[in-house]
Amino acid sequence: MTLSLEKSSISLLLLLFLAITTISSAHNITLILAKHPEFSTFNRYLTLTHLASEINRRQTITVCAVNNAAMGDLLDKHMSIYTLKNVLSLHVFADYFGSKQLHRITKGTTLTATLFQATGEAPGTSGYVNITNMKGKKVGFTTEDNDGHFSSNFVKSIQEIPYNISVIQLSNIITSPAAEAPVAAPADVDLIDLMSKKDEEPLAVYKIDKVLQPSELFKSQSINSDNSAMGPSSGADDGDGDSNDNGDTTNNNGGMIMNVDGGWFVTFVLSIGLVFG
Ligand SMILES: *[C@@H]1O[C@H](CO)[C@@H](O)[C@H](O)[C@H]1NC(C)=O
Ligand SMILES: *[C@@H]1O[C@H](CO)[C@@H](O)[C@H](O)[C@H]1NC(C)=O
Ligand SMILES: *[C@@H]1O[C@H](CO)[C@@H](O)[C@H](O)[C@H]1NC(C)=O
Repeated sequence: MTLSLEKSSISLLLLLFLAITTISSAHNITLILAKHPEFSTFNRYLTLTHLASEINRRQTITVCAVNNAAMGDLLDKHMSIYTLKNVLSLHVFADYFGSKQLHRITKGTTLTATLFQATGEAPGTSGYVNITNMKGKKVGFTTEDNDGHFSSNFVKSIQEIPYNISVIQLSNIITSPAAEAPVAAPADVDLIDLMSKKDEEPLAVYKIDKVLQPSELFKSQSINSDNSAMGPSSGADDGDGDSNDNGDTTNNNGGMIMNVDGGWFVTFVLSIGLVFG
């Protein structure tokens, strides 16, 4: 009973393992594009932005590649790698569009979600691409929020593995102010976070200093209340050898205040000022 259970769970694990390895080796965008030198720049930037592994991980996907000349135009804008990632992720659709599907869009126009939308980086619906069948069998691509102008057209199919991955060529990069907007480098943000935390640390140490000083005050207070309970004699705590008492402990009522020598009181007030100032 237990043995058969174990056996079935093992075979289930094996099946799962096989499924995972099959999925991950189903397609490799780097290998697909490597056969076409005219897309070498696009291919290199898919790797640099880590979009390649994201594309390989997905089961149903369309990659819109542009040739080296079009990539050159994009790189001339000197965007950071993070902005480039947003721009290129707008060229990866979370749906399958082979040449056939592109030319047979229902009602001739559709909106499709891109990886830019999927990352959550896209404000509003700026991560959607409008695909429209135009005159003369042309297929135009534009951002969802467009003025009727299509910056990019379908050129040809590069490789299609229905319905896993379709790699097509577009004439140009799909222009998108949202995707091209400068983004803060995640690494820099982390650094700023770390730096502000470092700044906080000395403040925390200061707070511990202040906690220690009032606790000294409370100690002397408890000694005084003990004294008032036992009588005016202060010989017991003098016997502890507290050399920094400065002989002020003898006073019962004003004892607490008298205990705090001038220096301590000033640092206490000063530290309070530092905390709340
Ligand atoms: C498509 O992907 C599935 C799942 O990864 C795989 O089983 C299938 O063989 C792939 N199809 C082709 C044609 O490679
Ligand atoms: C895809 O191919 C490239 C180039 O051969 C290789 O470096 C990379 O490891 C492959 N990726 C996967 C997921 O197999
Ligand atoms: C795509 O854009 C064109 C031009 O602005 C517009 O006419 C069409 O309705 C849009 N399609 C969708 C599905 O929004």
